[in-house]
Amino acid sequence: MSEKKQIIITGGTGFIGSHTVVEVIKAGFDAIIFDDFRNSKPWILDRLEKISGCKIKHFDVDCNNYNAMSTALNSLQNVTGIIHFAADKAVGESVLNPVKYYENNIGSLTQILKLAKDFEIEHLVFSSSCTVYGEPASPIVTEETEIKKATSPYGATKIACEELIQFAVQSDQKLKATLLRYFNPIGAHPSAEIGELPQGIPNNLVPYITQTAKGIREQLTVFGNDYETIDGTNVRDYIHVVDLADAHVKALQRSIKQEANFCEAYNLGTGKGSSVLEIIHTFEEVNDLKLNYVIGDRRPGDVVQIWADPSKANNELGWSCKYTIKDALKHSWSWEQNID
Ligand code: UFG
Repeated sequence: MSEKKQIIITGGTGFIGSHTVVEVIKAGFDAIIFDDFRNSKPWILDRLEKISGCKIKHFDVDCNNYNAMSTALNSLQNVTGIIHFAADKAVGESVLNPVKYYENNIGSLTQILKLAKDFEIEHLVFSSSCTVYGEPASPIVTEETEIKKATSPYGATKIACEELIQFAVQSDQKLKATLLRYFNPIGAHPSAEIGELPQGIPNNLVPYITQTAKGIREQLTVFGNDYETIDGTNVRDYIHVVDLADAHVKALQRSIKQEANFCEAYNLGTGKGSSVLEIIHTFEEVNDLKLNYVIGDRRPGDVVQIWADPSKANNELGWSCKYTIKDALKHSWSWEQNID
């Protein structure tokens, strides 16, 4: 029997999930991946084993399928926690297909919570998003900032999932939960073995930048330069994905020390905002290249500016960011060049 505490990581071959697998193993846990590769690739598993230097157990299961997950759990002995990443995350797609988002994102969480109860799994770490704050009154947000009515089905599922977890914790003496509200994850593992793998045309800024630099996309469009911000373009809190992954380990370690009914939310950002143009120019500078971009129209639904006050995560999780935006943009470019 394995001595190590086993942690199930759903979506463990996805962007944030794969980096978290590496950090979870580094911290001395046994990482077990639940992933059916619908938004990733099986070869990520090989890369994870290469980086971690150990065999990683993987189950090809849909997180909406309770029976498949419980069969997997029956073969494991020491599962202590679940980090639940598996979800759909494209805001635009969610507007076109809201049912898919409610079914997959909320449906899978209901199955995960049933599983946690039935198998007496004590710790849940959940992937939430700064999207829960909507367009905030002040650009810097704490965990006390008002949760706004969602502007997309994707955002609505994150709010609903947070609420469901809070109710589940209140109803169950065993379950302890941490809700991690991500700002904008960028970068890749410094080894360039794993990183973001968008399916089709990227929605997010940095993969669009790296694909344009590589020649896969002809030109990047900056969505609007007439906002009331430092240079007219939107401002976000871009955080290196390895720092984000590390926060999941810190969250687990803290959860393990908590009493019954523990449920806390944490902002995971650097505390610093960067504009779209700042990201583009920093990318050009650190990688010594020129990017083909134009200024276009605003993208409907974009928040003007938002960045995190990460003090709560810094103080309570003992977590802080180690990488800079320059590091992240170098790592993103190394990774892009390493994709076949
Ligand atoms: N942008 C461009 N051109 C592009 C892509 C993005 O100018 O081709 C701009 C956007 O307008 C925005 C910034 O780059 O100002 C960042 O856009 P992303 O799509 O990378 O990220 P978002 O901040 O829009 O979205 C992120 C997450 C979502 C989450 C949202 C909450 O990806 O999952 O934050 O605010 F819902």
